[in-house]
Amino acid sequence: MCGIIGKVGAGNVFPELINGLKNLEYRGYDSAGVAGVIDNKILRFRQEGRISNLETEIQKAKPESFIGIGHTRWATHGSPTKENAHPHMSNDGKFALVHNGIIENAEELKKSFLDGKIKLASQTDTEIVVQLMELFYNGDVISAISETCKALTGSFAFGILCEDTPNTLYAVGQSSPLLIVKSKTGHFIASDFCAVGEEAEAVYRLTDGEICALTENDIKFFNPSGKSIEKYPEKAEFSCSAFDKGEYDHFMLKEIFEQPKAVEDTIKSFLKENEIVFPNVKLYDNYIKEKLDKIIIVACGSAYHAGLSGKGILEKLCKIPCSVEIASEFRYGETFINENTLGIFISQSGETADTLAALRLAKKKGAKILSIVNVTGSAIAEESENVIYTKAGREIAVATTKAYSAQLVSLYALALYMGKIKGSIEEEKYKNLIKEFKILPEKIEKTIKTFTPEMEELANKIYKKKAIFFIGRLNDFATAAEGSLKMKEISYINSQSYPAGELKHGTISLIEDGTIVVAVAGKSKVFSKTASNVSEVQARGADVILITDESEKDCKVTAEFTVTVPETLKEFQNSLLVLPLQLLSYYTAKNLGCDIDRPKNLAKSVTVE
Ligand code: F6R
Repeated sequence: MCGIIGKVGAGNVFPELINGLKNLEYRGYDSAGVAGVIDNKILRFRQEGRISNLETEIQKAKPESFIGIGHTRWATHGSPTKENAHPHMSNDGKFALVHNGIIENAEELKKSFLDGKIKLASQTDTEIVVQLMELFYNGDVISAISETCKALTGSFAFGILCEDTPNTLYAVGQSSPLLIVKSKTGHFIASDFCAVGEEAEAVYRLTDGEICALTENDIKFFNPSGKSIEKYPEKAEFSCSAFDKGEYDHFMLKEIFEQPKAVEDTIKSFLKENEIVFPNVKLYDNYIKEKLDKIIIVACGSAYHAGLSGKGILEKLCKIPCSVEIASEFRYGETFINENTLGIFISQSGETADTLAALRLAKKKGAKILSIVNVTGSAIAEESENVIYTKAGREIAVATTKAYSAQLVSLYALALYMGKIKGSIEEEKYKNLIKEFKILPEKIEKTIKTFTPEMEELANKIYKKKAIFFIGRLNDFATAAEGSLKMKEISYINSQSYPAGELKHGTISLIEDGTIVVAVAGKSKVFSKTASNVSEVQARGADVILITDESEKDCKVTAEFTVTVPETLKEFQNSLLVLPLQLLSYYTAKNLGCDIDRPKNLAKSVTVE
C-alpha cells in the first residue's frame, strides 16, 4: 500500500502532486508528504492524516518547484506521525525518498551499515534506505541506487530526488507497482494511472529492480546493475471518470448501484452464444478431463469470501474437490499441490502481497495457475498463465462491492466452463444455468432498487448495537462472512460470522436480549437446519434478520425482520443474497457518521504481508 507520485516538467509541480495524491489516497491515508527542489535545496512538507491537511499547508506556504515527489502512507513500520511521514531524507539533506512496499531486512541493514554512524529521525524502514543512499553515494546517483537496492530484500517502489542533480527525478520498482508516464506537461512516476490524469501519452512499467532517470525532456532506463537499457512504452488507456461520485454521497453506494453493469460486463466478456469462452485461459480439455484432481482457491478478505462461494459451485458442477485458503496462511503452511492441481487466485487489485506470494509458491510446486483479477496488467495478472478479468471498472471505495460481485460471476462461469468440458453437468441443466446466468444482472438491479429504502430503514433500527452476528450454512455462510466483513470494516460495529450450526459450541453464550443475528438462508437442503438455529438464538432473546429468497417465502421461520430477494437458481443465489447486506452496512455506517469510503486503518490495496 502507500501511494507515490513524482513529476518533473514545466511549471510548478506541487498542485499536481497534491491532486495526484488525492487520487492515490485509496492506497493509504495515515499521513502525506511532498518534496521539491527550491533554490537547489530539497524542501519537504509533511502532515499527519489526510491529504487535505497537507494541501492546507501547501496552500499557505505556496512553494514552487518544477520537480517533486509525493507520498500517501499506510503505516507499516512506525505509527502514523509526522516524523514517520514520507518523504524521508538523508542526514546530509542530499536525498529525499518516497517508498511503497516493505523492506524486510531493515533491522539487519540498520545494524550492519548504520549503527552508531547515523541518528535516525523516524521508526520507518524507508529512512534506512535513504540513509544507505547517502552512504553509497560517490557522485553517481544511479550507482548509489543500484548499490542500495542490492542490499534490500522485500518489495519496493521508490521516487528519489538528489540535490546534486536537481533536474532529475529517479525511480526504482521491484515487486511494487510503479509506472513511468510521459504526458503533455512533463514526466511522471506513479503507483497508479489515476494519479496522473488523462494527459498521459505513453506509459512504461518498472519491473524487477529496474531504475529510471527522468528529466523534463528525457527518460532513461537502467537495469538493476545500473547499465543503460531500452524499454518500450505501452499505450496509455485509462479513464478517470470513476473518480466522480456523481449523484451519490459515497463511492461505496455508487459502486453498489454499479453492480448490475459490472456483472453484465463481466458475463458478456466470456459468454458467447450460450458458451463460456475465456480469452486469456488456456486450460486444455484433456487436462480438465483427465488430470485435474484438485482445486485450491487462494485469496484474502472479501476475495476469500468470493472463493468460499466458488468452492460450492465448482464442487457441485465439476465434481472436483476444492479447498479455499487464506493467502497469508497458505504461503507458510504445508502445501499439497502438484501439476494436477489448479490454483485459482482471486484479487481485485491484483497487487495483494500475500496472494501474489501464494501464487508464486503454487507455481513453483507445479500447479496450473488461473487468476481472477480486476486490474489489468497488475502483478497477479502478469504472473498468471491464465487470467479471467472481472469487468467491474475501477473500484474506489475501500470496501469492495462491485468487484466482489464480478468475482462471483467469474467463478460461476469457470464452474460452468469446466463442468461442461468434464461432462459433469447434464445438457439440460447447463442450458438452464446459462439462461439464468444471462438474466442475473437484471435480478441484481431489481434487488438493489427494492432493498435500498428497506435497508436504510432497518439500519436506523440497528446502528446503535454494539455487536452483530451473521450466520449461515455452506454457501450461505460465504455470504454471511462477507456481510459481516462489510459491517465491521465500515461501521466499526463488532460483527462476527459463524457457520450457523457452530454457534451452540460456544458463541451462543454471547446472545442476549436484543442481540442482532443476521441469518442468511437461501433455498438449499440446509434451510430447515438454519431455521432451527434461528429458533435457538431467538429463544435466548436475539432479534433475527432473515435474508432469504422468494422460494422460501412460505417458510415457517418468523424472524423479527425478513428480507426476501428474488428467486434465482441455487448456484447463483449468493449474488442476490449479499446485496441487502452491503446496503445494510452502508446505511448503518452512514447513521454512525463513519468515513465510509476511507475506513480507519484500512487501504484499498494491501501490498505488504
Ligand atoms: C473488503 C476488502 C478486502 C479485500 C482484500 C483483498 O471490503 O475489500 O477484504 O477483498 O484486501 O484485496 P484484493 O482483492 O485486492 O486482493
